[in-house]
Amino acid sequence: MMENTYQLTEQQINHIRESIDIVDIISSYIPLVAKGKSFFGVCPFHDDHSPSMSVSKEKQIYRCFSCGAGGNVFKFVMDYENINFLEAVKMLADKAGIPIQIETGRTPVQKKYQAYYEIYDLAFKFYQNNINTTMGKEARTYLDKRGIDSNIIKEFGIGLSLKNTEMLTKLLTKKEYPSKLLIKTGLINENEKGLHDVYYNRIMFPLWDLEGKVIGFSGRIYQNNDTAKYVNTKETEIFKKGELLYHYHVAKNEARRVGQVIVMEGFMDVIRAFSIGLTNVVATMGTAVTKEQALLLKRMAKEVILCFDGDEAGAKATMSCSNELLQIGVTPKIIRLEENLDPDEYILKYGKEQFLKKIENPINMMDFKLNYFKKKKDFSNNSDIANYVKEVLKELEKIDDVVLRELTIQKLSQETNLEEQFLKEQIKQIEQPVKVVPKKTNIKLTKYEQAEKNLIYYMLESAEVIQLYQKHITYMPTKPYRLLAIQIACFYQDYQKINIADFMTSIQNDEVLTQTLNDILNLNLKEEYTIEEIMDYIRTIHEYGVKFQCKRLTEMLEMEIDPMKQAEIGQKIVELKKTEMMDRG
Ligand code: UTP
Ligand code: MN
Repeated sequence: MMENTYQLTEQQINHIRESIDIVDIISSYIPLVAKGKSFFGVCPFHDDHSPSMSVSKEKQIYRCFSCGAGGNVFKFVMDYENINFLEAVKMLADKAGIPIQIETGRTPVQKKYQAYYEIYDLAFKFYQNNINTTMGKEARTYLDKRGIDSNIIKEFGIGLSLKNTEMLTKLLTKKEYPSKLLIKTGLINENEKGLHDVYYNRIMFPLWDLEGKVIGFSGRIYQNNDTAKYVNTKETEIFKKGELLYHYHVAKNEARRVGQVIVMEGFMDVIRAFSIGLTNVVATMGTAVTKEQALLLKRMAKEVILCFDGDEAGAKATMSCSNELLQIGVTPKIIRLEENLDPDEYILKYGKEQFLKKIENPINMMDFKLNYFKKKKDFSNNSDIANYVKEVLKELEKIDDVVLRELTIQKLSQETNLEEQFLKEQIKQIEQPVKVVPKKTNIKLTKYEQAEKNLIYYMLESAEVIQLYQKHITYMPTKPYRLLAIQIACFYQDYQKINIADFMTSIQNDEVLTQTLNDILNLNLKEEYTIEEIMDYIRTIHEYGVKFQCKRLTEMLEMEIDPMKQAEIGQKIVELKKTEMMDRG
C-alpha cells in the first residue's frame, strides 16, 4: 500500500469519503441529470457542451468519456478548486461535519519550488515594509492621489522597490540562496559588477497563483519617467501569466456565492472595484484571454460578465474573450464603458452607484457584437449592409443559445429589412459540418495487454477475480498493469474487500497508476462476467510469460557449451511448454 504521509489514517480518510455523496458534491458545482443508474453533466475539465461526464452513485466515482478525466470525490474537488489532496479532504470533512486536524500538506510541486515561494515571500515583505518608511512618502502620495488608501494597500499587499538597487539582493544573499536561483526568480539580475535588484523605484503589486501564494510582481512607475508603465516578473515554472487570473484566490468564493464573475483587463481595475465592495472580480492583466483562463472563468461561476476598457482595444479584447468563452459553451454578458474609460477611471468619475447600476444591467453578447460590427458602416450603402449581415450571421452560427439566436435574427431582420426566413436559410448555409472531436488515437493493444486490462477491470468489480489473480498470476507482462494489479491485491489484503473510490485515494499520489486506472475504467465492459472469461484472460497472460521465458531459455541454450547445463535448460523448456498445454486444456 502507498505510504501514507499524512496525519490522518487511510481509515479516517475513507470514513470522510463515505460520509458524503459524490452526487451531492458534484451537483453543487455542475448541474447533473439522472439517467439510468448514473448521473450526467457537462465535464468542467475540457471544452464541451454535451454531457460527457458520468457520476456513479453506486461506485462513488466520476469519469468523462470524452477527456478521460476521472476519480473519486477528492479528485473532483482537487481539480475543480485547484487545491491539493489534503485541502480537499479538509474541505469535504468540513462539509460532512467531521472535525479533523491537519496541516495542509505540500504537494511535490510546491516542495520543488519551495525556495521560490520563500524568496517571493521575503521580497513581498521587503517591498511592503519600504512603502511605510520615509522613502515611501512619494509613492504613498501617488497612491493617495489615485484614491488608494492604507486599507487597500494592505489588502492587496502593495509595496515599493527602492532607488537603491542592492537592498533586496543583500537581503536574499544573506539568506544564502544561490545566485543562480535568485536570478531564476526574476527578482535579481547580474552584470559585470555583480548581482543587483531587477526592480527599482516602482510601486510593487504582488501577483498570486490560484491558491494565493505570491509568485511574482508587477511594478508600476509613479514618477514622470518614460519607461514601461508596468514591468512584470518574468515567467517561471510557477508563474505563467496565461494560466492565472489576478485575484482569483479571493474572488472565487464570492463569485461562487453570487453565481457571477466579473472580468476586467487591469489589476488596478480589480483593486478599484474591490474598494467599492465588488469582490467577485478578476483581471486578465492585459493579454488576450487564453483557453486556460476561459476554463477557469467557466469554473468560477455560471454567469461571466466582461467589463473591459471602454476604448477600441477594450472592444476588441471583449470580442476575442467572448469567442474564447463561446468555444467552451459560455455565453458572457458585456458591459461597455463610455468615453473610453476603464473601470477604475469610470468609478472615480461617476461613482460607486452608477457603476453598480452598469454591472446590474449588462448587455447580451449578441447586442454587443451587433454594435461592434455596425461601427464604421454606412447603412445607406448596400455592400456595407451585406458585410454587416455576413459578419453577424457568422457569429450567430457559433452560439448554442436558441432564444438569443431567435431574438438576434429578429433584430437583424428589422435593421436590414431582410426576411427572417431568408436570414435563417443563410445561417444554415454557413453552418459548418458537425465538428469532429479528435479522439485519442487508439493504439492497437496486443492480445496480452487487452487481457491484462480486462482482468484488472473485473478485479475492480469483484473479490472473486482478485482471488483468481492472486492464485494464478505471478507476473503481468506490462509494467503499469502489473503495478496496478499489485496495488489492487494489496488493497484487498488490507481491507478484505474492494472499493474503487477508496482504492483511488490510496493511489492518488501516483499519476501513472491513476491514469492507468481511469483508462481501464473507461473500457466499460459488461457488468457480468463468467469464470471462463476470467480464466481466459489469465491463460492469455500466462501464455505471454511462457513465450517470453522460452525465448530467453532458448537463447541461453544456444550460448551454453556445457552439455550438463544444456540438458538442464532443455528440461526447463519442456516443463514450461507443459504448463502452457495445461493452461490451454
Ligand atoms: P492598462 O494600461 O489598462 O493599465 O493595462 P491600467 O489598469 O489602466 O493601469 P493604470 O490605471 O494606468 O495604473 C492593463 C493591464 O495590462 C498590463 C497590466 O497587467 C495592466 O493591469 N500591462 C499594462 C503591462 O503588463 N505592462 C504595461 O506596460 C501596461
Ligand atoms: Mn487605468
